[in-house]
Amino acid sequence: MAIPALSLHAFRSAQRAAPLSDFGRELLEGLSRSPRSISPKFFYDVAGSQLFDRICDLPEYYPTRTEMRILTECAPEIAAQIGPNADVVEFGAGSLTKVRLLLDALHVPRRYVPIDISGEHLEGAAQRLRADYPQIAVQPVVADYTMPLVLPSRGEGLGQRVGFFPGSTLGNFSPEEALAFLQLAQRLLRGGGLLLGVDLVKDPARLHAAYNDAQGVTAAFNLNLLRRANRELGTDFDLEGFTHAAFYNAPLRRIEMHLVSRRAQSVRLDGQRFDFEEGETIHTENSHKFTVEGLHALAVKAGLKPAAVWTDPERLFSVHWLQSPAAQ
Ligand code: AVI
Repeated sequence: MAIPALSLHAFRSAQRAAPLSDFGRELLEGLSRSPRSISPKFFYDVAGSQLFDRICDLPEYYPTRTEMRILTECAPEIAAQIGPNADVVEFGAGSLTKVRLLLDALHVPRRYVPIDISGEHLEGAAQRLRADYPQIAVQPVVADYTMPLVLPSRGEGLGQRVGFFPGSTLGNFSPEEALAFLQLAQRLLRGGGLLLGVDLVKDPARLHAAYNDAQGVTAAFNLNLLRRANRELGTDFDLEGFTHAAFYNAPLRRIEMHLVSRRAQSVRLDGQRFDFEEGETIHTENSHKFTVEGLHALAVKAGLKPAAVWTDPERLFSVHWLQSPAAQ
């Protein structure tokens, strides 16, 4: 039997009738708020993840290469802090590149548990890691690492549990979310610790350049959110009608990214109309920058004990070893 093609109208109605995804629900809430905002976690569809990989290689975007340099150059000291037989747990593992530097540095690491919300991506990356590190038990967990979770049970011979959270992803959380994450990590890592990478406060011009690159990759990454909404949610954002803006908010020590409406216009989502004035924005990301002292204070508040910190010679980025005392 021939299946009749859907008219565009019927297709849009069918899309509207379907229950909204998490992205749809959060965008609906975010567009209804004043000022408008959406969580940066929705940047990372396939196209967004590829754009983020390109950002990491940009000349202006220093965090990735600086953190990798710290992890490489300080590897012996990091390994000495952590000790042998480590049971490494990575939060939001992605493509599992940075952890290779850590696994290479550690003395006989035993197990590696990458946690990521995206199962497909994770299993492929875990397979490749198993091939390269046959002596390490790689046990991926598909989960949202910001929620309480249960890790695979620990067998014989495992050393301390080592959380790994590189890339300054902590900076994309609100201060309250950052504290909640560190508290969750503290509970999960009792008797071990957290190896945490965070970007440092610095010259605003350097920060501005990192989020306003000359090739426009960060702008494309930001605007991809609207492309994703049009594709997945049937919104009618005019991609030419919005522009990327990123600036340093000095009092709050954060880069803010926004999508700015170039003109008065309206957008439809789930049968609702949202009117934008010229210059009105959707706030898409905060990227908090830390001082070493500020990060230490936050860690202590979460019950973690700052034990060591490594930075690069320009003090652009920092890697922290935060111990989680064993339960009394
Ligand atoms: C993933 N996160 C730490 C990046 C950052 O620098 O806040 C995301 C990013 N946004 C724009 N460029 C990179």
